Amino acid sequence: MQTIGLPQAQPALTLLYPRAEIAERVAALAREIDCDYAGRELLLVGILKGSFLFIADLARAICTPANIDSVRIASYGSDTRSSGIVEIRKDLEMPIRGRHVLVIEDIVDSGYTLEALCNLLLLREPASLRVCTLVDKRALRATEVSVDYVGFTLDNGFIVGYGLDYDERFRGLPDIYLVKSDA
Ligand code: PRP
Repeated sequence: MQTIGLPQAQPALTLLYPRAEIAERVAALAREIDCDYAGRELLLVGILKGSFLFIADLARAICTPANIDSVRIASYGSDTRSSGIVEIRKDLEMPIRGRHVLVIEDIVDSGYTLEALCNLLLLREPASLRVCTLVDKRALRATEVSVDYVGFTLDNGFIVGYGLDYDERFRGLPDIYLVKSDA
């Protein structure tokens, strides 16, 4: 496994999903989405900040006509665990009633963030509501929330890069890394 060299006092990062593998999964997800939404128009809803790179790549990979909007949701907890307390800091700008909405997440962990958003969006009566996540991390799932499109399934571990952060660091890394657990 490749480990990137960072100054001391930085957590050790081990490469998990290289950029080529991410690109392959994004392309495969786009094909699946195009197939499912043939003849329809989509509204992609990215959950900021973590999904910013994924939504940028996915939006360019799909052929289905799509509008793009975003929400900003913060969940509270430790650096690596969610508490279940979720705050919507930036709402959608577009109405969604009667539209086919596809929520774009970087990672679903406890599921609290997604559950809060889906509950809010369903009140607005979209024609359909589905979820696409780059990473589905199931070990600590605390909700019944369902995910329709999954890039990678991760049993456990804390990951950074490609939008995902550790204390706001590493979002810009083009690959995804596992953070060593004693970091
Ligand atoms: C992360 C991630 C997901 C959420 C998943 O966001 O981007 O939105 O946590 O965790 P959950 O399933 O346990 O709710 P975070 O709150 O860290 O904000 P960020 O997107 O700005 O990094």
